[in-house]
Amino acid sequence: MKGIVLAGGHGTRLRPMTQVVSKQLLPVYDKPLIYYPLTTLMLAGIREILLISTPQDMPLFRRLLGDGRQWGIELTYRAQEEPNGLAQAFVLGRTFVSGEPCALILGDNLFYGSELIGIVQDAATIERGARVFGYHVSDPERYGVVSFDDEGNVSGIEEKPASPSSSYAVTGLYFYDRDVCDIAAALRPSRRGEYEITDVNRHYFDRGLLQVRILGRGMAWLDTGTPEALQDASSFIATIERRQGFKIGCPEEVAWRMKYIDDAGFERLAAGFGQNSYGKYLSRLSTGSLR
Ligand code: DAU
Repeated sequence: MKGIVLAGGHGTRLRPMTQVVSKQLLPVYDKPLIYYPLTTLMLAGIREILLISTPQDMPLFRRLLGDGRQWGIELTYRAQEEPNGLAQAFVLGRTFVSGEPCALILGDNLFYGSELIGIVQDAATIERGARVFGYHVSDPERYGVVSFDDEGNVSGIEEKPASPSSSYAVTGLYFYDRDVCDIAAALRPSRRGEYEITDVNRHYFDRGLLQVRILGRGMAWLDTGTPEALQDASSFIATIERRQGFKIGCPEEVAWRMKYIDDAGFERLAAGFGQNSYGKYLSRLSTGSLR
């Protein structure tokens, strides 16, 4: 399975923070926001990843992430000229996807929880249909919303409904079969003028091919669309990391634990950070003094 991280957009709700830098490069506590969705794909076992961003921000992402080789993954880049909708990821990414199943994660979505690895690794085995995730939120009208009938079967999916028929938001992590690029290419813009990922999901739903898994209360799904949400995400990560002594969304560690890089490669990465706290953390992992 391949993977796309969609990290474009104007970040207007976060200005002036995003006046000259992409939202997905802003810090969430001790690392750039983009590290969190990127490591989610890495944990799923996905190693061929396309990063889509704006033409202006692309050089910065390249400087930060390179070609991915240092983490044992293959990163390629594609610019999105205008943020015309999430489904465009599969129009811009068609050559990269090249007829394989593909996951999409939004560059501003952050997932955390003990079940996460199992959930994403299972989803990455999908060969037919689509799998998305529902999460109970207090403000469903801000999201794609999935509704259920009395038997718990999915009965519909809508983008930002004025009166949501459930409290389950569709998260920004999607797994699709090989048909997704054709489906995205055939879409028409929505009333707000965007190529909606919800329309891709509805296409699968209409054919009985949409699987919705609920992420339970023990899982955290955070988005970072407003200054408050960004601050909440930073506080959340800081709280867990300081308490446990382990980092969340650390690509060097994930690459090493997933065996994408060997011990020697991991030690080299750790040494590259010198004696700062991030480097010390990686060194303690690599020497086995942190277990
Ligand atoms: O976060 C989950 C939600 O993401 C879903 O529940 C919704 O169904 C889905 O439409 C989306 O809603 P948002 O309102 O959060 O989408 P937004 O336009 O804010 O875009 C999400 C991220 O993707 C944002 O960081 C910018 C980036 N983006 C967005 C568009 C429209 C792109 O890179 N390119 C785009 O064309």
